[in-house]
Amino acid sequence: MSTSNIVWHEATVSKADRQQKLGHKSAILWFTGLSGAGKSTIANALEHRLHGAGIHTYLLDGDNIRHGLNRDLGFSPEDRSENIRRIAEVAKLFVDAGTIVLTAFISPYRADRELARSLVNQGEFIEVFVDCALETCEQRDPKGLYQKARAGQISEFTGISAPYEAPEAPEITVASDRGSISDCVEQIYDYLVTNGYIRHP
Ligand code: ADX
Repeated sequence: MSTSNIVWHEATVSKADRQQKLGHKSAILWFTGLSGAGKSTIANALEHRLHGAGIHTYLLDGDNIRHGLNRDLGFSPEDRSENIRRIAEVAKLFVDAGTIVLTAFISPYRADRELARSLVNQGEFIEVFVDCALETCEQRDPKGLYQKARAGQISEFTGISAPYEAPEAPEITVASDRGSISDCVEQIYDYLVTNGYIRHP
């Protein structure tokens, strides 16, 4: 569909106004990693930590978004790209709203994550690689999906029959198979403080 007859309307209240009111910067914390790596768990725990410190946050989680906004999408490469494109656009709105938005999607393709990065300003996209060995994810198998994928009951399963392209230069890497959840959370929290996104209360 063409957007040639749609004119952008400049808002009177700006992102900077909202950030100033809230007292912190806004950004996307983009979690990426295999299914079972711990993206949702770490993102949830970090959101809790940030919320407790008075930061305005919102969490967009793969499994939940696929029940609503993206319920029409499957797991082909094209559908995954569209999944990520929509999430990236939604996350961008949250950045404009002054929020620290956490997204927890496998997002297996580098090009899709780069597209997400390109939608916002420099410094507003923080890629968090949740690094966990496939064997560990498969052992954990919290939803029993690896077992089904191995049995051929799920096709195009990331890590088994579909690719995962690990980030080459993520802002943060958390090794969820070596440290605890709270170690990972503190590492990301410290990054936000050290880089001036938030102030430690
Ligand atoms: S993404 O690849 O498009 O970013 P997303 O994070 O939204 O994936 O959804 C992944 C979740 O869907 C997994 O955690 C898992 O619970 C479920 N799932 C179902 N089928 C697949 C599949 N073929 N590959 C990966 N995950 C799947």
